[in-house]
Amino acid sequence: MAKRTRPTSGTPTARAKNSDAHAVFADARILVGVTGGIAAYKTAMLVSRLAQAGAKVTVAMTPAATRFVTPLTFQALSGRPVYTSAWEHVESHDPQHIATAGSLDAAIVAPCSMDTLSRLACGRADDVVTLILSAVDRSRTPVLLAPAMNAVMWAQPATQRNVETLASDGFTMVGPADGWQACRTVGVGRMEEPEALLAALAQALAAARR
Ligand SMILES: Cc1cc2nc3c(=O)[nH]c(=O)nc-3n(C[C@H](O)[C@H](O)[C@H](O)COP(=O)(O)O)c2cc1C
Repeated sequence: MAKRTRPTSGTPTARAKNSDAHAVFADARILVGVTGGIAAYKTAMLVSRLAQAGAKVTVAMTPAATRFVTPLTFQALSGRPVYTSAWEHVESHDPQHIATAGSLDAAIVAPCSMDTLSRLACGRADDVVTLILSAVDRSRTPVLLAPAMNAVMWAQPATQRNVETLASDGFTMVGPADGWQACRTVGVGRMEEPEALLAALAQALAAARR
């Protein structure tokens, strides 16, 4: 039978550096929450890189996220079922959100929409992503949020208030970055690139294990 190997890319030196930096992902159980933003296409690369590094990735998507990228894409890249509804128990007979939350080493929401930032800041749990996160104990398990939105949406007082609340509630914000936006303007609100998200996740995982 053909043996499965993890693909590598780049020069031997780059490969060695990458495999050192990403060793922390081997067998790590990571939730990638995807919400409704254009940047969801970049999350496909994040999931692929995590899978290549040996992580066990569970992708959960809000209904809006499935309008941007299909669950099938994430299923193929993670090699695992994708959660799109709180009402379908894909892998567990226990309440699935509790079992999933309790099994995680880390979670990231990328992209994290303005709407999801607001729901998380209020402690709402009305879709499968926020429901799983509602049951994650952040004193043990890091939860990273990678906001992505138009610069005006990002600058809204409500968004900035929500970000402050989330940071003081123990969520880790990654970005957003400054640059070209899907609405063909330049400003702050762009999702960080997959490599930056991987680096932030690796750092959070390493810190949680210390
Ligand atoms: C074409 C299109 C692009 C959108 N892009 C973004 C985006 O980049 N960031 C964002 O916060 N909201 C964006 N939205 C709005 C969200 O999809 C909407 O607020 C939705 O309720 C988010 O739901 P969710 O947070 O549950 O996924 C976009 C909407 C449309 C129609």
